[in-house]
Amino acid sequence: MSLNPELAKLLNAQINHEMAASYSYLAMAAWFEQTPYSGFANWMYQQSAEETVHALKFYQFLVSRDAAVVLTPLAMPQAEFTSPLDVFATSLRQEETVTQQINDLYDVAERVRDHASKNLLLWFLNEQIEEEKSVRDIMDRLTLAGDDPASLLVLDREAGARKETKESAKN
Ligand code: FEO
Repeated sequence: MSLNPELAKLLNAQINHEMAASYSYLAMAAWFEQTPYSGFANWMYQQSAEETVHALKFYQFLVSRDAAVVLTPLAMPQAEFTSPLDVFATSLRQEETVTQQINDLYDVAERVRDHASKNLLLWFLNEQIEEEKSVRDIMDRLTLAGDDPASLLVLDREAGARKETKESAKN
């Protein structure tokens, strides 16, 4: 079944959105690299890599559906932040936007009755729930830590333990 052109266009746009998220997380990692928080830098770096995998999932899906892949430019990401909490708050806003984009894509996939696309998008919707939750959890704990250096360093150490993603673009 060939891909509906409107859906194909939106799936291509989502490659850009996921790459933009990856780029944005890389800028957040780079910001943390200039602070004592090497653990948060690692967390953001791993998240950037995960967003690239998300972009590749959409790429692979378009290729396997015999649809053209169209890559578009990325905007310069935000690079200045006021605090670790500010970085994670920016991350949450970004994830909420992506969730909305995936929801909208699902609506189109449903309208054109493309069940394979719906299946792919369901995976993403579940992933978004997890991503928003993990960012919110870190924000809650950062708020609790306030300006206490010892508490902030504990949170930073935990973020530093985040491992490379095992996710692959092909499944
Ligand atoms: Fe791939 Fe975090 O959205």
